[in-house]
Amino acid sequence: MNRLVVVSNRVAVTPDAKTRAGGLAVALQDALRKHGGVWFGWSGKVVPQTTAEPTITKDGAITYATVDLSRKNSAEYYNGFANRSLWPLFHYRLDLTAFSKQTYSGYLRVNTMFAEKLLPLLKAGDLIWVHDYHLIPLGEELRKKGVTQPMGFFLHTPFPAMEIFTALPSHYALVGALCSYDVVGFQTENDLRAFLDYIVHEAGGSILGDHLIRAFGRTVRVEVFPIGIDTEDFVKSAKQAAGSESTKRLRDRVGKRLWLIGVDRLDYSKGLVERFHSFERLLETRPEYRGKVTLLQIAPPSRSEVPEYREIRRNLETEAGHINGRFADFDWTPIHYLNRSFKRQNLAGFFRVSRIGLVTPLRDGMNFVAKEYVAAQDAHDPGVLVLSRFAGAARELDAALLVNPFDYDAVADAMAKGIEMPLDERRERWAAMMVKLRANTLSTWRDSFLKALGEGPY
Ligand code: F6P
Repeated sequence: MNRLVVVSNRVAVTPDAKTRAGGLAVALQDALRKHGGVWFGWSGKVVPQTTAEPTITKDGAITYATVDLSRKNSAEYYNGFANRSLWPLFHYRLDLTAFSKQTYSGYLRVNTMFAEKLLPLLKAGDLIWVHDYHLIPLGEELRKKGVTQPMGFFLHTPFPAMEIFTALPSHYALVGALCSYDVVGFQTENDLRAFLDYIVHEAGGSILGDHLIRAFGRTVRVEVFPIGIDTEDFVKSAKQAAGSESTKRLRDRVGKRLWLIGVDRLDYSKGLVERFHSFERLLETRPEYRGKVTLLQIAPPSRSEVPEYREIRRNLETEAGHINGRFADFDWTPIHYLNRSFKRQNLAGFFRVSRIGLVTPLRDGMNFVAKEYVAAQDAHDPGVLVLSRFAGAARELDAALLVNPFDYDAVADAMAKGIEMPLDERRERWAAMMVKLRANTLSTWRDSFLKALGEGPY
């Protein structure tokens, strides 16, 4: 069995990963434990000088190797190019995309430095699996240093339409770098289609069929691997959480009211301001719901050094204040807006007592919350998922109430439909979604990617 080398911007060195969204870290750790291997990436720490040697932590068959970044490196690579250029662009926010030569060269510099530090840790026969937009050039840098082992890349975010992507000054170089991998995986058919469009119409490459393309002098396997959740584990967590103290306290607060829940990183791609507008529209147009429905929005702050994230935080505070000021009564607050995170187990319980799960991103690679909300429901009395058609999860969860998050009236209508939905229909829709969630789990995703990587085109 080949050893596995996982490379990602963040590394979950502790086995406490179950508290993290989606349990992705657990799935990767399971594979690393089984195959033996290395997990390499940024430690998340910013220090005066980027560390000369990676910090090594061993846990059985897993070796964690992490690098601290200097302020300049983290500012240009992470806050700069990754999160002010690629992130907004990949989420179709050209209006928020900042281009700068300086941050791009910082991004390339950190990727080159990661390749240098990873190189001595590699062994012949390793399978190398690189994750996400922070690390697109890493594979090419490793190839330049003579690495011939199979290398795969999985993009967790959307891949944008060619018209958007070509606005990035370095679009050609980045796709060239992607073609250094042997396998490139995407979340949905949409993302793959956008990538193929670029390969054919911009890069002058060709589609060979059988998941293979030829471009930049290489043959690459390109395929869709929709990421799943650990469905049974989440079902179990939600059942356990149903009896927990925090769920009981929430249930007491809920009382006879219906709760709608949203749980998102505080990110403009999640459509939170738009969601608040839609909720306002619901209360405006259907006065009978005033005092009867409450929105619980949990939004832990994220990437707060990036100005656009500080801005979205301010906007949301203003919106929540405005809606509460407009509609609240002495014994009812329409929106409970919490800027903090909760453990997965607590969230599972909150999902279970909420009648509606609101997952309305303007654009999202997949979205774990949509899947977790469904998995957390009580089979006898399930809630309703209101899901943006622009989330990758909408491909599989088509039995949700699919909405266009830009259309506030339609989202308000979907909320009302969810509130009124008869039990039979709720059960039917929920059962259809559970079939999908049980068929495609996190381990299905991981194993099918690794199988493809093992087969290569190389
Ligand atoms: O793909 C989404 C993603 O960038 C993940 O890579 C990351 O774990 C998550 O969002 C949180 O973002 P950050 O690592 O910037 O806090």
